[in-house]
Amino acid sequence: MDSLKIYGGTALTGEIAISGAKNAALPLLACGLMVGTETLRLGNVPDLADTRLMLALLGHLGVEAKKDGDDLLLSGAATSLVAPYDLVSQMRASILVMGPLLARYGEARVSLPGGCAIGTRPVDLHIRAMQKMGAIVELADGYVQARAPKGLTGAKILFPIVSVGATENAMMAACLARGQTQLVNAAREPEIIDLADCLNIMGAKISGAGSDVITIEGVDSLHSGHHSVVPDRVEAGSYAIAAAMTGGHLRLTQMRPHHLESLFEAMRQAGVSVDIGENTAEIRADGRYQAVDIETQPHPGFPTDLQAQFMAMMCLAEGRSKISETIFENRFMHVPELMRMGADITTDGRVAMVTGKPSLLSAQVMATDLRASVCLVLAGLATKGETTVSRIYHLDRGYADLEAKLGACGARLERVSGA
Ligand code: UD1
Repeated sequence: MDSLKIYGGTALTGEIAISGAKNAALPLLACGLMVGTETLRLGNVPDLADTRLMLALLGHLGVEAKKDGDDLLLSGAATSLVAPYDLVSQMRASILVMGPLLARYGEARVSLPGGCAIGTRPVDLHIRAMQKMGAIVELADGYVQARAPKGLTGAKILFPIVSVGATENAMMAACLARGQTQLVNAAREPEIIDLADCLNIMGAKISGAGSDVITIEGVDSLHSGHHSVVPDRVEAGSYAIAAAMTGGHLRLTQMRPHHLESLFEAMRQAGVSVDIGENTAEIRADGRYQAVDIETQPHPGFPTDLQAQFMAMMCLAEGRSKISETIFENRFMHVPELMRMGADITTDGRVAMVTGKPSLLSAQVMATDLRASVCLVLAGLATKGETTVSRIYHLDRGYADLEAKLGACGARLERVSGA
């Protein structure tokens, strides 16, 4: 397993171009299951472990993926309707093939995501949405078996809580259902808008994406289309925080600053300078910044995917910060690792209190999930000395060219194989 050595203490300076969003690319790739012999052309697909895994799953299902310059071409009728455990267990987002398969082929058999008993880390909202559209769903042998031999029927689907994945699955399925579907209390994330834009280019009739009510008029089929994946707001937010923590000056390009309003507001409140342009953001910090409280919320609230990184930033703030995680039950796995670096953090359920310090200490730490890993990299960059982050395969799931991008701005990072 690879680890990453970080020789910290350098203020990051320079420009970083933001890649396509992982969380937008995954459902967009799943749309490749709905074009049959037509072709979906996607640009700006980030080269990440997760997108490669989704392509492996599509390949298993019969969709052919070809590179054409910087674009990816997807086409082909499904030859299997089964998403097997060995692929799904590696990535929860694999569940996103369920809606497209069911809508296009009337059947899908998808393994439940790994370690994920329904009820504890559920996909119940995805399943309920398919049932509302008339699918017959059975759970057996760790698989969700869904059937709609006569096709899906449009329905009003009210989500009891906001779910990004369930909104996406339902939206994809509803495109090919008979009649109108309404998704109420739908997720409003930019990735939802990106998916709706792409589906509309392919002939779908979706309105309201980006609001909490999405209306879809079913069509008989989808056709070829060309779409470019929206920039990754979590990658951009992570590098913005890196600039603040190292007292640096970074210009982020090819990004959408209005997707990060809640983060930028919190950073400005802390005293960090954030200048936004149409597709750019310039972040400048010198010296210490102030502690700020945040609470994660569905978009446009503070994103849970930036909570760990913001906590790392608050470890070096002046004062005490309260960080509340409202989306996921168990998303403070980075706390013990940050404490190994000398951070002062106490947790009580879903609330963490962080007392800022002038500096952190370098240490050997372990990455536990994707966003927790990058938070440790940021802490390492802001710390004089040598920090080693082990198990960085998590990082490769979501950050394209991280070492090269940070390296070009003065960071000294070294990947150590097999450590
Ligand atoms: C997506 C993102 C992930 C992000 C999350 C929240 C992708 C590939 N991943 O994950 O990076 O952290 O949104 O912004 O886009 N829930 C249920 N039942 C369900 C589905 C979800 O109870 O059937 C719960 C979850 O346990 C969680 C909450 O709903 O507490 C929100 O999760 P959801 O928005 O569905 O997250 P994902 O789509 O899995």
